[in-house]
Amino acid sequence: MTAPVRYLTGITTTGTPHLGNYVGAIRPAIEASRRPGTESFYFLADYHALIKCDDPARIQRSTMEIAACWLAAGLDPDRVFFYRQSDIPEIPELTWLLTCVTGKGLLNRAHAYKASVDRNSAAGADPDADVTAGLFMYPVLMAADILMFKSHRIPVGRDQVQHIEMARDIAQSFNHLYGQHLVLPEAAVDDSVAMLPGLDGRKMSKSYDNIIPLFAPPAQIRKQIAAIVTDSRAPGEPKPVEGSALFQIYQAFANEEETRQLRQAYADGIAWGDAKQLLFERIDREVAPMRARYDALMANPPELEHILRTGADKARALATPFMAELRQAVGLRNLGSAPRNAAETKAGKASTAAFKQYRESDGRHYFKLVDAGGRLLAQSAGFASPQDAGRTIARLRQAGWTEAAAAGVQLAPGISAADVAAALAGLTSG
Ligand code: TRP
Repeated sequence: MTAPVRYLTGITTTGTPHLGNYVGAIRPAIEASRRPGTESFYFLADYHALIKCDDPARIQRSTMEIAACWLAAGLDPDRVFFYRQSDIPEIPELTWLLTCVTGKGLLNRAHAYKASVDRNSAAGADPDADVTAGLFMYPVLMAADILMFKSHRIPVGRDQVQHIEMARDIAQSFNHLYGQHLVLPEAAVDDSVAMLPGLDGRKMSKSYDNIIPLFAPPAQIRKQIAAIVTDSRAPGEPKPVEGSALFQIYQAFANEEETRQLRQAYADGIAWGDAKQLLFERIDREVAPMRARYDALMANPPELEHILRTGADKARALATPFMAELRQAVGLRNLGSAPRNAAETKAGKASTAAFKQYRESDGRHYFKLVDAGGRLLAQSAGFASPQDAGRTIARLRQAGWTEAAAAGVQLAPGISAADVAAALAGLTSG
């Protein structure tokens, strides 16, 4: 069995998806989610949104738009984990455990926080003026998102790389104190995806007010394309493609042959108005088929809600047992379970058994129970879904090793039911 590589990324729910998001994040993420040997987690980072936005209607609207957009663009929620951060109560719970192992000095160095402090200082204001504790804690919440699902690779823009490095540092601190529970993530920055310019030629970004919304009505998209900056070269005059925002946007949607043709048209002196018409048609060709699905989803919020709740159930089937393992590791334990003691010194920490969930190449979902030393105690049969596996784990945790709870789970050679019962008792936390 080769374990799948887990990709995870979050989308902050403050804005309306635009062409830049589509080309730079959504489209590559959906393509990546179809690659065999990978497992993808995409979620709406609405707790993060609260850090930057105090407009409830906007958060709700953006959550809907982003969810509808990813689904319309082809994300298959059955194939990936697609959920809303605030539907996973284990995320804020893990955030607290991580907060307690995170150096304040580490957070002092975070770019976003430092930029605010520097701005304040430059303005002669109190360094922490208008800086919330939420902004300061942003990297810890993000670390919880990542570490909760044992993610390996985190596709992000360059501006987020520091946050992934911090998640690694935080995971290392936790593992150092409590044993090897957390997987160290790595940033995956794809330099081959084009940075899309906006209407004014700068990077397309809500903060520059230069975006083209992905699902605006065609008439509006046409109007916005007409507003893309060009130069004063007249029809018939050859035009350079270098530095042409229009050309770059076209290229992000076109195949090689189409791009070659537009480059030729530039050299032949195409009029800007005609080039804009070509761009509109090319974008519309890609977006129109998705628009119907987008509009249908936006008109049916209960359907979106249902999809997200189903995604949350699937994600929680992993998060709930893992959080129980972490609570046990730090000492938040059921007092009725076998007490552990002096043997659990600093050096002997993390002496707890653990459930490991995984997927086999047969496509089924399995788990095993291993002791602190990694010795196999019990092995499950294959389940159709990670939820089914998670439910059996939850039953074993709750009920211990009984015939009913252990349905479909076999003791490893040389292991007795009593061994497993003891391991489970050490695990159970209330
Ligand atoms: N901070 C990310 C951004 O602004 C969004 C985000 C939240 C995220 N949690 C994450 C990205 C976890 C990757 C992994 O783009």
